[in-house]
Amino acid sequence: MSIRFDEAALAWHLTGPGLSYVVGVQDGLPRQLYWGPAIPDGAVASLAREWREAYSFDDRLHTGAELLGELGPQFATPSLQLRHPDGAKGFDWHYRDHAIEEGDAGGDRLAIVFTDRDLTLTLHYRLWDTGVLDRWASIDAGAPVEVTRFDSAAWTLPHWGDYRLSHLSGEWAGEWQLRRVPLPVGETAIGSRRGNTSHQANPWTAVDDGTATETSGHVYSTNLAWSGSWRVMLRRSPQGRVTITGGAGHEGLRWTLREGETWTTPVSSGLWTDTGFGGASRAWHEHLRRHVMPTPEEDAPVLFNSWEAVFFDVSEEKQLPLVELAARVGCEQFVIDDGWFGKRLADNAGLGDWWPNPDRFPNGLKPLIDAVHAKGMTFGIWVEPEMVNPDSDLYRAHPDWVLNQQGRDRTELRTQLVLDYGRPEVAEWAFAWLDKLLSDNDIDYVKWDHNRPFTEVGRPGAEDPDRAYFEHVEAVYALKERLRAAHPRVRIEGCAGGAARVDPGILRYVDQVWTSDNTDAGDRVNIQYGFGQAYPARAMGTWITDEPTGFNHRTTSMRFRFQVASAGVLAVGGNLTEWSEAELDEAAEHVAYYKRLRPVVQHGVQYRLGDPEREPLTGVQYVRGDQIAVLAFKTPWHCNRPLPPLRPEGIAADSRWEDEDTGETHWGATLNALGLPLRWGNADWDSAILRLRRVA
Ligand code: GLA
Repeated sequence: MSIRFDEAALAWHLTGPGLSYVVGVQDGLPRQLYWGPAIPDGAVASLAREWREAYSFDDRLHTGAELLGELGPQFATPSLQLRHPDGAKGFDWHYRDHAIEEGDAGGDRLAIVFTDRDLTLTLHYRLWDTGVLDRWASIDAGAPVEVTRFDSAAWTLPHWGDYRLSHLSGEWAGEWQLRRVPLPVGETAIGSRRGNTSHQANPWTAVDDGTATETSGHVYSTNLAWSGSWRVMLRRSPQGRVTITGGAGHEGLRWTLREGETWTTPVSSGLWTDTGFGGASRAWHEHLRRHVMPTPEEDAPVLFNSWEAVFFDVSEEKQLPLVELAARVGCEQFVIDDGWFGKRLADNAGLGDWWPNPDRFPNGLKPLIDAVHAKGMTFGIWVEPEMVNPDSDLYRAHPDWVLNQQGRDRTELRTQLVLDYGRPEVAEWAFAWLDKLLSDNDIDYVKWDHNRPFTEVGRPGAEDPDRAYFEHVEAVYALKERLRAAHPRVRIEGCAGGAARVDPGILRYVDQVWTSDNTDAGDRVNIQYGFGQAYPARAMGTWITDEPTGFNHRTTSMRFRFQVASAGVLAVGGNLTEWSEAELDEAAEHVAYYKRLRPVVQHGVQYRLGDPEREPLTGVQYVRGDQIAVLAFKTPWHCNRPLPPLRPEGIAADSRWEDEDTGETHWGATLNALGLPLRWGNADWDSAILRLRRVA
């Protein structure tokens, strides 16, 4: 890995594992000259091109720009939109200098500095040993300037005959739906105007020329480390070039940089692979685990969570039997969910009043925590620190602490409002009570929820009310970081009514995330397939719950539900007091089995075997060292047609494998030819797990 400067060409060559990225200054503009398989240094100068527009109506000048601008014939939606006090717009790039800094374990950095008027704009690059390139930008404002758009990066794709976009969309309880669609000529925007990443869209994208498969082909993929509103705009020009520009904030926001202020965008990351969609996902997984997530090397415990067991009816008395049973089935951590604090008997009161409800916990949390510890489990607790119910002591004392606009209604969603974390006193209040909660009680785990999007964002009297969108996210990051530093033992689960806030930004501060409020195992096969496109199994919280769930009233076997949930960080979320002795025994067996599987699932390399949207028989294969685990799922199938076998990936023909449960051995060649020897029946919603160890 290295970054080399070709002075004559005024270009920088970033090389990583098998790949090159070349950025140069040409015709005054910083341009991406190349991104793809590794090239020799000597070729860099030859990448220089004539960028003159061919005729007066052309807009070829935009091609390759590292940030799409608005001066000269640049007509794409800009990455950067500025308005100076005298009415002039945009940034006229004047190259000043650059700096190269070598990092360890990858992370080599390049900064290219440009000036215009009183502004200094720096393009930042950091190339990791995972092949992921981080890009971001910063402006030092020597004079005030109004900003209406400041993306982290624009990425230019090779000139191909066709383009296809893969992205993740969804809704509450239906996140992570993979869409794979032709990219039309024109501009395609995905994003969130909700103040959080959103259930509806995730900033991950993958683009290919329409021919890539799960196992082969060139794929360019990007993601954005930002947990607030965002926009990614993919522009396919009529001449057939594609640029992806993405960053924080949504259309219509504006704010003014103050003299002397530095504004830094979040990181946009990109990767290229020639190993298809599966290869792209594995590169993201590896990168997030090695360079983003805080504790990926730890085995995440099997936890019990009270939400679906009792919903808001959380009390010492009602939790104690669950503690007993959670320990009995083998859970390692006991997490009480919503309902333990203030007057929180339902979702219409109590948020903001973070002390144990005295009727429900007459002696505080200690007796319950002691009972949990006595059973050998650690203790976790649910909080929603960014929100307040109007029916709370906090809101009665500080009605001005919420995001709001003068003279506008404060829209309540789930009967709650959003606290304005951009106000230092609010962020300080949050730290104080969280710190006290974690100091006064022996707590190992916090499930941090965020259950509504933002509306009427503003701060009456503030000069620049749209900054609240950015300040909130930064303050949440800072608060989590501060809490982690003050309580290094505590692990955090990121949750937002399911997965409305999952992105590489939040993953820096949370150890795992809640994948979806939809815990129906049948739906989860598909949801988890989508999640895995961008994010690793180590981050994916998966519960086994009671069925039917409220979502589609499907009933499946306990084995199917456990085995689907075993594909991530397993947890138990059913009402164990209603499980029969036989069910509890069976659950204990599944949990014990998961613990044997856990190192391979949580720390292994993931291969998707088939697409559950299109095929009835699919699986997820995890590989770690000489061990393989395959979790296979059978969704409904018609007409008694024989199912094709499920074949593993990446197994050498001359290798031999022992089934760790039966002791049988198999040739790699046989597994590849005939498929995996899965032990299951012929029913819909069936599943099987196979653990293999390489013996030769
Ligand atoms: C959200 C979460 C759930 C649960 C509830 C509690 O919906 O996603 O898991 O914690 O809030 O109100």
